[in-house]
Amino acid sequence: MDFIDISKKRQTVRKFSNEPVEPEKLEKILEAGRWAPTAVNGQPQRILVLDNPENLMKVKQFCSFGYDQKYVDLAHECDDSKNGKINLYYGAPLVLFVCYDQDACWRHPQTGESSGATDATIVATHLMLEAASLNLGSVWISYFDETKARELLNIPKQWQPVCMLYIGYPAADFVPNTHLGGKRLPIGKTCFYNGVPGQHNS
Ligand SMILES: Cc1cc2nc3c(=O)[nH]c(=O)nc-3n(C[C@H](O)[C@H](O)[C@H](O)COP(=O)(O)O)c2cc1C
Repeated sequence: MDFIDISKKRQTVRKFSNEPVEPEKLEKILEAGRWAPTAVNGQPQRILVLDNPENLMKVKQFCSFGYDQKYVDLAHECDDSKNGKINLYYGAPLVLFVCYDQDACWRHPQTGESSGATDATIVATHLMLEAASLNLGSVWISYFDETKARELLNIPKQWQPVCMLYIGYPAADFVPNTHLGGKRLPIGKTCFYNGVPGQHNS
């Protein structure tokens, strides 16, 4: 499959079936992340693979936010927790918890800024696109309770959590994306040839 086809095929899934992800597919996903570029090839990514009931239960606890009623409704539909908590877990059988090690990343010599978040984001993108190429659905989750996640998963202090990817087969009745219906802006709104529109080139 051409890369552009994989890019278009990938779409956010917020309702998963409970069919497990095959170990060979998981290996391929992790391998795709392994080949991601990182600043000075520092490879500061640290990825927790969570796929047993004990750990998935922990994810359910720290992803509890209620920022959008649509998602809350979806989560209630696919979770069986009867504890009255608002839960944004979507029933995925596999969660990749992506962090970077602050002691392992490059720092910009002028600004001192760490490359860690950028590195981990590129790695996560590789993971997500490989999942799509294997006909798996995924959703990128930035919104979770970091303090609670650190505590429940025993995350070392120098690891900075960046995002989670929920991965699995889409439920038969999953509904495609809600934000702007998944539509993309025309190229002309986000890409500019040889200069910023309305600005004089010096
Ligand atoms: C950096 C980032 C953070 C996101 N955080 C969340 C999140 O916390 N919860 C969620 O349900 N979706 C989250 N998403 C999914 C986006 O809403 C989704 O990718 C976007 O609406 C485009 O839809 P598509 O993925 O179907 O193309 C996030 C995506 C990105 C790239």
